[in-house]
Amino acid sequence: EVMKELLGLRELENKLENELGVKKVIVVAGNSDQDSWVKREMGRACMSELKRSIEPKDVVAVMGGTTLAAVAEMMQPDAKTREVVFVPARGGLGEQVENQANTISAQLASRAGAQYRLLHVPDQISKEAYSSLVLEPSVKDILKLIHSARTVIHGIGDAKTMALRRDSVDSFIDKLIREEAVGEAFGYYFNKSGELIHKQRTIGLQLDDLGEHKYVISVAGGSSKAEAISAYMKYRPSDVLITDEAAAESLLKL
Ligand code: BG6
Repeated sequence: EVMKELLGLRELENKLENELGVKKVIVVAGNSDQDSWVKREMGRACMSELKRSIEPKDVVAVMGGTTLAAVAEMMQPDAKTREVVFVPARGGLGEQVENQANTISAQLASRAGAQYRLLHVPDQISKEAYSSLVLEPSVKDILKLIHSARTVIHGIGDAKTMALRRDSVDSFIDKLIREEAVGEAFGYYFNKSGELIHKQRTIGLQLDDLGEHKYVISVAGGSSKAEAISAYMKYRPSDVLITDEAAAESLLKL
């Protein structure tokens, strides 16, 4: 804590809370664009935030991505986390296995000694498949559990980076460029004013389902994500933002 004062991180946190309208901002030292240990530091901060805020028997929904994978690595069991159920917030959204929400929720649970449930549905499915899948009893059950989550932990991505990572078609990439998309979270793409440009259809928690009763922790760092973080927070300011020094400094310059 003394170290944080010395490094000026506390000041960055206060400024960002005002700037973004986010109740609590936690800034760790470094730039996760450059050093992978910075993601794990954000992960450590995220895990202490989670342990502070959860109640026994809570359902915690998690999204995918490399940042969330680093968050899961930092889970250390304690009496509180053992009683939690981890679930993926949504389907795979075109990620590699180790960065999928299912994998991350299972990882968190196994490190915490907690329970988890998987959502066995393909991502990016047709309207027809979607309508019949959500009626499957096993899918219905897990969706109910996912929607009951009180805490949601998710990453935020740069719009173009995420579209490319999901092997999106050229016409979609062109649309994102034309409409000046800068950020992405939960499969939703935003411009810099935080306006919605596109919503990807997948099964699970939708960003618009995150009512006030959900406790949302966003984890995203690196100066390359500054615009994305700012855009997302205009759409739905999180309860907690965990970021790094490089993103924080770039955010304050926008
Ligand atoms: C994906 C989520 O899994 O991770 C996205 O579906 C998010 O919504 C992305 O933007 C963040 O990924 P990373 O690797 O930058 O943490």
